[in-house]
Amino acid sequence: MGVNALQEDVNGSRSNFCSLGTCWPGSAKIENSASIDSPNRGKGDGAEEITTKPPCKQVIGFKAAGIPDAVGSTVVPKGEHQVVPSPQLRQFSFNDLKTATRNFRPDSLLGEGGFGCVFKGWIDEHGTGPVRPGTGLTVAVKALNTSGLQGHKEWLAEINFLGQFHHSNLVKLVGFCIEEDQRLLVYEFMQRGSLENHLFRRGAFPLAWNVRMKIALGAARGLGFLHGGKNGSKPVIYRDFKTSNVLLDLDYTAKLSDFGLAKDGPEGDKSHVSTRVMGTFGYAAPEYVMTGHLTTMSDVYSFGVVLLELLTGKRSVDKSRPGDQHNLVEWSRSYLSDKKKLSRIMDARLDGHYSIKGSQRAGQLAYECLSRDPKMRPAMADVVERLEEIQNLKDMANTANTLKEGDQAMRGVHGIRLERRFS
Ligand SMILES: Nc1ncnc2c1ncn2[C@@H]1O[C@H](COP(=O)(O)OP(=O)(O)OP(=O)(O)O)[C@@H](O)[C@H]1O
Ligand SMILES: [Mg+2]
Repeated sequence: MGVNALQEDVNGSRSNFCSLGTCWPGSAKIENSASIDSPNRGKGDGAEEITTKPPCKQVIGFKAAGIPDAVGSTVVPKGEHQVVPSPQLRQFSFNDLKTATRNFRPDSLLGEGGFGCVFKGWIDEHGTGPVRPGTGLTVAVKALNTSGLQGHKEWLAEINFLGQFHHSNLVKLVGFCIEEDQRLLVYEFMQRGSLENHLFRRGAFPLAWNVRMKIALGAARGLGFLHGGKNGSKPVIYRDFKTSNVLLDLDYTAKLSDFGLAKDGPEGDKSHVSTRVMGTFGYAAPEYVMTGHLTTMSDVYSFGVVLLELLTGKRSVDKSRPGDQHNLVEWSRSYLSDKKKLSRIMDARLDGHYSIKGSQRAGQLAYECLSRDPKMRPAMADVVERLEEIQNLKDMANTANTLKEGDQAMRGVHGIRLERRFS
């Protein structure tokens, strides 16, 4: 979820979020018009904000001053900022969710982002009541951060966008809670957490090649669905595509989460939507960062960044790398476009266990998605088709220990580790 989303067009009703006792800062997002090539600009000069994640608090709450539709537990329709929940969404009471997460216990904490903390909980299969841990429906409960800069509008966008979409590659929103000063979202629980954790968390087992390609395809299908427009309606631009927003099911099916920044695409013959620049540094398309012109091609660029991260196992921006490698996209371009050089940037943790043809095609695809000219980028429908062709190619660069999906992938990786240790 993006910092300062609230400011975009809810200026009149901006609220002062405050936890019981402490205020939290926002998280690492951009909201600026700075060039993507200038990662160090920011903070001081009012350009992008790159901030550290806040500590998680157990008790949540904020002052809802000025929020027009926060009237007790009643949802009051009000123009653009109203909650228009789809009938399938369940409306929870705060106490239900407090009990379901065992009072937001720290050991129920799944993670935290700019929006707030995410807790694991258990609710009635079909209702809203809390149930004993391990029974009923397992959910992820996201509690709105209580700091002053972001939240309510993204919370609404999440309900209004995600509530109406149903697709196997979009995380399912189960329901929400709006009660006094509380704002929470309840999602289906994704057993394997975020792609970010699998790719970058210290100690995580490396994902096998075919699992990476399965994830890329699932995420591409999710984006393709949004861009395709629902029943012929205008496309939706997701605007915050990145590894932490790609969540993984038990079998590594990728699902997109976090629609707080999603935007309806241009209408009629308009080529773009003009908006304040928001998103996450390292993923946002350069032309969008520079002009604020948003198109579905901005998402395609972000997809290219994630595909590149899947290939290289490297973060899109990392200042601990040598200077010329800080920005993964800029550094990788010449390798992606040259089949002979591609292997030099492939994730060393794959240990050669990847399809040569598949990696070359995926490298070329990432190269095109990352084109500086948005018109040269492929549409997500093309991306999906090309990724489908890459699945299950068997021409592995290193033929020992061909890896299979899911848990087998993990076992395969164990296999490689043991083989290395004992050889
Ligand atoms: N439905 C879910 N099931 C399981 N884990 C989840 C779920 N939703 C979120 N998480 C976990 O909580 C973490 C925080 O998610 P959140 O979306 O709040 O922040 P983020 O994506 O890391 O950052 P940002 O605020 O920029 O989106 C995720 O990285 C993931 O590990
Ligand atoms: Mg997220």
